Amino acid sequence: MKQEMMEITSQRQLAPRIYEMTVKGALVEQMSVSGQFIHIRVPRNDLLLRRPISINNIDHEAGTCRTIYRIEGDGTRVFSEMKAGDKLDVMGPLGNGFQLSDIHEGDTVYIVGGGIGIPPLYELSKQVIALGARPVHFLGYASKEVMYYEEEFRALGETRIATDDGTYGVHGNVGNLLLAASEIPQAVFSCGANGMLRAVEQLYLGKVNNVQLSLEARMACGMGACYACVCHLQDDETGQKSLKICDEGPIFPAGKVVL
Ligand code: FES
Repeated sequence: MKQEMMEITSQRQLAPRIYEMTVKGALVEQMSVSGQFIHIRVPRNDLLLRRPISINNIDHEAGTCRTIYRIEGDGTRVFSEMKAGDKLDVMGPLGNGFQLSDIHEGDTVYIVGGGIGIPPLYELSKQVIALGARPVHFLGYASKEVMYYEEEFRALGETRIATDDGTYGVHGNVGNLLLAASEIPQAVFSCGANGMLRAVEQLYLGKVNNVQLSLEARMACGMGACYACVCHLQDDETGQKSLKICDEGPIFPAGKVVL
């Protein structure tokens, strides 16, 4: 993990409150695993904490990494107002990332995301394809209005979409999409809110050996020092044991942590 002043090379709005930002710098050389995140300092002195943002795409040739984020408060609003050529203080890459050592040629891999948990699944899907496996994407959004990256995911493989309000695709959530899927894949990778991750765990734990869940967490330091991001272990009756999502996660095998 390193820290660098990275240059913004592009910034565009994808949907209401949702932005795509690409940054360039030597830090990209350290990035290879999907599901990791970068920790970006807000360039305003009254906003002390960095903001964790997942890596959406790694381009080693261009030396860039792309992120997609949603405006949640002042920090992310400041990011959205920045332009190409501006510099950002970035730490990363952070987190463990998805483990692909058990993915083989010809495997079917379910890639399941909801809302602002969807961005890191794009780099993941590219890497799954590079291993000769077949991704099937299951994406859930609140509504058609806040959808993004449909075409990008369709370009990588089969993509099924649900919206909570029924304005596009299947009316319902990602769980509805998964219930309608008939095959048993070799692996299931998911990122999103805990409710969605619980549904994925209930459907596939014990049926599929390789189920990896990426948790969204509020973070402060982002590097294991402050305990702002802890989660608890499922098999711990005392309730005392915990893991830090920022550096021991954000990805855990299904069945490991309390969601
Ligand atoms: Fe500080 Fe995870 S955010 S320990």
